[in-house]
Amino acid sequence: MKTFPQSRADDLIGSTAIVTGASRGFGRAIATALSAAGAHVIGVARSLAPLEELRDELGDTFTPVAADAAAPSTASGLLDEYQPRTLVLCAGAAPQMSPLQDHTWESFSQNWNVDVAQAFHWIRYALRRPLAPGSSVIAVSSGAAVKGSPLSGGYAGAKATVRFISSYAAMESQRAGLGIDFVSVLPQLTPATDLGAKAVAAYAERQGVDVDTFVTSSGPALSTEQVGKSVLEIAGGARGEHLAYVLTASGLVGLA
Ligand SMILES: NC(=O)c1ccc[n+]([C@@H]2O[C@H](COP(=O)([O-])OP(=O)(O)OC[C@H]3O[C@@H](n4cnc5c(N)ncnc54)[C@H](OP(=O)(O)O)[C@@H]3O)[C@@H](O)[C@H]2O)c1
Repeated sequence: MKTFPQSRADDLIGSTAIVTGASRGFGRAIATALSAAGAHVIGVARSLAPLEELRDELGDTFTPVAADAAAPSTASGLLDEYQPRTLVLCAGAAPQMSPLQDHTWESFSQNWNVDVAQAFHWIRYALRRPLAPGSSVIAVSSGAAVKGSPLSGGYAGAKATVRFISSYAAMESQRAGLGIDFVSVLPQLTPATDLGAKAVAAYAERQGVDVDTFVTSSGPALSTEQVGKSVLEIAGGARGEHLAYVLTASGLVGLA
């Protein structure tokens, strides 16, 4: 159970947020939404140039940081330096899209070494430091965590583990009375990002249809703006008491 009053949108004004994976796709939209809500956003990705482009767009309340979000020193260093009120863990590796037998252990485990390592290091340090009461930590998992994803090796299992880590942290926060909110978000597959477009192309090919036919048959596609808006709703406390949400083009649906 979350420990906050329902609407804390005003808390975001002048607050600090860290968003990993902020240079493109969902993370860029989340950083933009948090910035529009009045937060100073620290955006993390490995390549500096796209982050600097985003700073040109959002202004001085966006600070680019080029770093590996899966490294423990990135997590502890940035949490100590910025002590964010909002932390969004959105960075993720684009999985190799191929059937199980064409994976190596290296390709199969890629999302464990990036997405799961990131969730573990940041969330563990958020609990141990700890972040201030009233802080909110939002981990981006995937709809694949529930449905599976047979063409992306260890991706679905890694994303299920991200959700577990977030829910374990929520329990520890509650037990210790830390007042830190931990929530995971499970977006549906969408062609709106580089990672999603690659996956959609692979599943369309597997079904023997073109990408447009595959996308149309899957219903309305989730946009990056909808992801930004939904994460903002959670960060602002405008949602219910759930520890995890599936996110589709129709919005957020609480899971547990
Ligand atoms: N798109 C979908 O359909 C979909 C569906 C469900 C869940 N998701 C999840 O949503 C999240 C965002 O995905 P997306 O579709 O927006 O992907 P994307 O367009 O490929 O963007 C990925 C972002 O993560 C950054 N990144 C990757 N590895 C990193 C690392 N080790 N350290 C720091 N930054 C790193 C990338 O920048 P650099 O490359 O410069 O580091 C980029 O900013 C991922 O966790 C993904 O699994 C996506």
